[in-house]
Amino acid sequence: MDYLRRFKPELAPTEEELHAIRFPFDPAPPMETLMLHFCGEVRLTQWYKCASEWHTEPVIKHIYETISRDEGRHGGAYLQYMKRALKQGGPSVAAAFAKIGFLMASSQRSDKALHPTNLHVNEALYPQDTIQSRLPNPEWLEHWLDEQIQFDSVWENKVVGGILRNLSNLLGQTFENVRDLNKYRKQMLAAA
Ligand SMILES: [Fe+2]
Repeated sequence: MDYLRRFKPELAPTEEELHAIRFPFDPAPPMETLMLHFCGEVRLTQWYKCASEWHTEPVIKHIYETISRDEGRHGGAYLQYMKRALKQGGPSVAAAFAKIGFLMASSQRSDKALHPTNLHVNEALYPQDTIQSRLPNPEWLEHWLDEQIQFDSVWENKVVGGILRNLSNLLGQTFENVRDLNKYRKQMLAAA
């Protein structure tokens, strides 16, 4: 924002625009929330990597490459908390991770980008209760993904693969697809 204020003030967000996205979220279960944000980081890593490859201007390429790696690091940090939670909570934690992993990797079933900013988080404000819906131009993200950087199924599969691979390592399983995750979730629920 500071950069925009200095160099492109007409693109800097106004106080009013910022205020629109400051709204309370309904309470949510902690383990599902943790996994949700982990998946968000995996997705952002690929979005920015794709953007970096699409751009041709060297500084912009470098910026996207840098923030892509940064998102990867965020995912790594969440993973440490997930490992700890799993040690303490056992099967019910594993079931929560598998549940959200299933949801966030089921991108073929969704016409919206499966990122936390697209999810409904406040029942009383529905349907204006996603971050995306409260932006001045909610259609921007889909346009950026589909028309500009062309985040196609090859890239989407990298997101899904990243979620499945990380959960496989974390839970000591081999998840080939989201159905495997769902099966495992049911087993863990029964065990819990
Ligand atoms: Fe992040």
